[in-house]
Amino acid sequence: MPPDMCHKHSLCIGSSSDKNDSLVSPYLQCNPPLALAPMVGLSHSALRILILELGGIGLFFSEMLSVQRLPFENETVSPFLCRTQEETPFFYQIFAGPDQDIVPAVERLHLLNAQGIDLNLGCPAPALRKLGAGSFTPPDVAQQTVRSLRAVTHLPISAKIRLGAQLDEKRLLRFCQMLEAEGVDLLTVHGRLQGEKFCRRPRWDWIGKVKKTVKIPVIANGGIFSVNDARNCLEQSGADGLMIGRGAVCRPWLFANIAKEVYNFNISTEHNVKNIYFRFIELLQDRFLPERCLGRLKQFTHYYSSNFSFGHHLATGVQNCRSVVEAAEIAAKFFETVKGEGND
Ligand SMILES: Cc1cc2nc3c(=O)[nH]c(=O)nc-3n(C[C@H](O)[C@H](O)[C@H](O)COP(=O)(O)O)c2cc1C
Repeated sequence: MPPDMCHKHSLCIGSSSDKNDSLVSPYLQCNPPLALAPMVGLSHSALRILILELGGIGLFFSEMLSVQRLPFENETVSPFLCRTQEETPFFYQIFAGPDQDIVPAVERLHLLNAQGIDLNLGCPAPALRKLGAGSFTPPDVAQQTVRSLRAVTHLPISAKIRLGAQLDEKRLLRFCQMLEAEGVDLLTVHGRLQGEKFCRRPRWDWIGKVKKTVKIPVIANGGIFSVNDARNCLEQSGADGLMIGRGAVCRPWLFANIAKEVYNFNISTEHNVKNIYFRFIELLQDRFLPERCLGRLKQFTHYYSSNFSFGHHLATGVQNCRSVVEAAEIAAKFFETVKGEGND
């Protein structure tokens, strides 16, 4: 669908590159333009289904996947690849070191019915530093990787970046222009520098500098925990859409709230905070082998417990559990003590 035919509250992604007609991507519509961020241990099928049930989501990203490991993952049991067809549109996020072959990974993603491929150019984790990947990818390597990706896939390609190692507008904009010129169809900008912690306020206005410079859609990311944050971020960045990470784990209904309040979706925002917790446990158990559930429940609870004023009791209780059944019992007891709390 040409961009001018896109609904004004949706995000249209697709290569309009005229460099090679056979590689022109189909346009992909994300409606509303709200995406779940890639998050290791959190952005998995159980959370995605929970969010789908609550509504308001327009695009999913997987957690980051190593191009070296991806071809060998068994999708029937791998918690990284487990996905149902409802979880769509879906971008798999990959990371690659300078000498790693991306082709087998891309072939695998085609077989997995990916709607897009996201390149991680923003993660500052130490493991990626060692590899020279994520936010440590040198610009020439990023250029080569995008070029190689563009040559082997017709799918939309997106890239997720931070603002850089230091605040350097020229360097940042040159980098984004390079990505666009190499065929990236969508850019997600996390409004923090490489070394900045999550406690620092994201620089949404700097995302606006990128938005003004490139023609491809830009998604803003970082620090969105409420409808008000969403409004402020959109205002300051002028972005085409939003990506939400931790806020979506704390409040999986946040997409529905933003879809309704910001994008005028006719959508229910009713939810029950306690039932949602048990539904999440059910979804984990439906999808993952028993030994894969508890760690993911602990990680989720770390964020979700922020819905309650004494939520640290829930987080610590679950943290010390040896089984999901025990965690559910602890949660049930905790919810008894906080009757009337949690629903906002
Ligand atoms: C536990 C955790 C895991 C993350 N894993 C990834 C990842 O796999 N790939 C990535 O690009 N970013 C990753 N991120 C960064 C998020 O995608 C996002 O950019 C960041 O959390 C800021 O957005 P937020 O303020 O909405 O959480 C991770 C963040 C967290 C908290």
